[in-house]
Amino acid sequence: MTKPSTGQAVSFHIEDGIGFLTIDQPPVNAISLAVIAALGPALDAFEASDARGLVVQAAGRTFVAGGDITMFDDPAFTPAPLNALLDRIEASNRPVVAALHGTTLGGGLEIAMACHHRIADPATRLGLPEITLGLIPGSLGTQRLPRLVGLEKAAGMILGGKPISAGDAQSIGLIDAIAEDPSAAAIAAIDTLTGTEPRRTRVQVIPDLDRAEAILAPLRDVAASTPWHPAKAAAIEALSTGATDGYDAGEATETRLFLDLVKTPASRAQRHIFFAERAARRISDLPGDTPLRRVETIGILGAGTMGAGIAMAFANAGFTVTLVDANPEALDRGLTRISQDYERLAARGRLSADDADRITARISGAESIAALADVDMVVEAVFEDMDLKCRVAAELGAICKPGAILATNTSTLDVDRIAQASGRPEAVIGTHFFSPAQIMRLLEVVRARDTAPDVLATVMSVASRIRKTAVVTGVCYGFIGNRMAEVYMRESEAMQMESATPGQIDGVIEDPAWLGMAMGPSRMLDMAGVDVGARTVIEWIASGDGPQDPAYRALCRAMFDSGAHGQKTGHGYYRYEGRTALPNDDTHALAAQLARQHGITSRDHDAQEIFERLLYPMVNEAALILDEGIAQRASDIDVVWTAGYGFPAWRGGPLFMADEIGADAIVAAMHRHGATLGNADGRWTPAPLLSRLAREGGRFSDL
Ligand code: NAI
Repeated sequence: MTKPSTGQAVSFHIEDGIGFLTIDQPPVNAISLAVIAALGPALDAFEASDARGLVVQAAGRTFVAGGDITMFDDPAFTPAPLNALLDRIEASNRPVVAALHGTTLGGGLEIAMACHHRIADPATRLGLPEITLGLIPGSLGTQRLPRLVGLEKAAGMILGGKPISAGDAQSIGLIDAIAEDPSAAAIAAIDTLTGTEPRRTRVQVIPDLDRAEAILAPLRDVAASTPWHPAKAAAIEALSTGATDGYDAGEATETRLFLDLVKTPASRAQRHIFFAERAARRISDLPGDTPLRRVETIGILGAGTMGAGIAMAFANAGFTVTLVDANPEALDRGLTRISQDYERLAARGRLSADDADRITARISGAESIAALADVDMVVEAVFEDMDLKCRVAAELGAICKPGAILATNTSTLDVDRIAQASGRPEAVIGTHFFSPAQIMRLLEVVRARDTAPDVLATVMSVASRIRKTAVVTGVCYGFIGNRMAEVYMRESEAMQMESATPGQIDGVIEDPAWLGMAMGPSRMLDMAGVDVGARTVIEWIASGDGPQDPAYRALCRAMFDSGAHGQKTGHGYYRYEGRTALPNDDTHALAAQLARQHGITSRDHDAQEIFERLLYPMVNEAALILDEGIAQRASDIDVVWTAGYGFPAWRGGPLFMADEIGADAIVAAMHRHGATLGNADGRWTPAPLLSRLAREGGRFSDL
């Protein structure tokens, strides 16, 4: 449903004796300072009119989808003006009905809850997602929601942050009715409600008030165990105060806590990531009106781990997929894995059986590359072997229809060379998916030297259709993410050869007091496969372009030779009993032996050193990546790490964290480590960009 624009942020008009207040702030009617300023005069006009009631609605494709979060950066910001306007809406003696459509989120739902009656179209989604930005609702969401739906459901919505459907909202009492045309239904509701006492949310009794403590106490315990998410405890405190001390006390607590949270590093980091993900979609030298190629049918070449996952990612979004593998058994394995995966999802109730069948039916298999002659886009995911990738690119170049996009899913190979081999380099692009490709959010889109602008624009749009967070990267070893992961792994292994244990290193970096990575470097490589990582390192060194230090990642290379390939072999950096990682004495002994061989002396590592040696080289590598133009902007690098590598969003990514620490402190630490550890391959030499930031007191976020 789309409603016509009025051209004003908020307007008021009367039609057939009923007032209409229309919010119109494209694209999503976010509450901005302009909307707040214009709401007052619109309410004045209603209050001065003789309209029988008021319909609160929004123009365009959605009701208010949230607050304009840039206004929170202003130190003078306070929710008070909007709260006062909501109080005026609620205080009206004439019926006020919210007519909702699209996404009614955050401040949008708070406006709706101040109205006396709420009607939504069937596709509306409603929620209070502030927690995902490290905040709590700031305009009475923590007070009005429990009075409408009860504390238990309100706590679930506020702490979970996930929107609910109109149907669910009606069943819990958040909205009163569902109608195809909510504005028309609102007019009818006003006629019914006229003359009755307006139902003001603030005076409703919380339905499950008698169980308040039983509901909130366990949630308080959970929140206490995650102190790095202060918004959780704050939400519970605001709910609790409103329940025990009443609405006005609840409002005061909510406002105080909201304003405290806005300043926390966690919320600033999460807001940074929110904007960073949106900024990543923009490509500076690509005009916004670059035409897009039509992409409906997808060919995937290689039905292995990645090919099968990529096929699912496309099929989930409605694309028709042809999956090709030259090896009939591999094709069969891939197709079986796909159908089993959907059966499992259906069995767990994550998907209806019909949907599972419908999605599975979108994927068909073929053994010959000729089956890809007519598809709009091919994603090649054959073995990571340059000769093979080039041969396959040439075949695709020869058989695919004109205009087809040829994407290569390589983790490390030179996409420019693959593009040349295809005979139509302008059609070639890299799509670096992460495993499991149907689940992981990140997609690195590799822009090769000759990639045509419309190919790049189309792949970015396809990425958003398959719900990936896409980041553009130039061609280099490891692109953005794996290139930075390389120096992270390097230091982890160097410390192990100096006698630190994987558990000690992972423990520091997984500890939210230090960083809070989902997995430390050793745990991550054990999961991804030590063999996969080692092979890349071995080839990189053999190519002559890699590091020359003989001790460089000697540990993973030796583990590769000894068959300690990680979880898949039951032993890697750790020894596995089921999924449980235990210390692996063999790997410790191997590290000690390599240390003797390379003359590395044993030393103690405190948590500060472990933290610095893992994070700072990544920051330094990121500075090189920016200087070389591999990444478009610093915030893209933060998105790569938070969307693809388990870097916590509440830390804002490596460069947001670097800005918090200060480039000067990082450079000083790098010099210190270089002096203590030696500077093989220049690893502790600060990148020119990082040095400049240190000298000038600059920040990555200001580049
Ligand atoms: P895989 O070994 O599981 O699958 C490769 C498949 O390609 C096999 O089924 C093989 O039969 C097929 N194949 C080989 N030559 C072929 C040809 N000429 N025509 C058709 N099919 C052919 O490999 P995986 O792990 O799926 O990797 C594929 C690509 O994705 C590699 O380039 C890899 O570097 C990249 N990648 C892998 C990630 C991972 O975590 N496994 C992550 C990101 C990228």
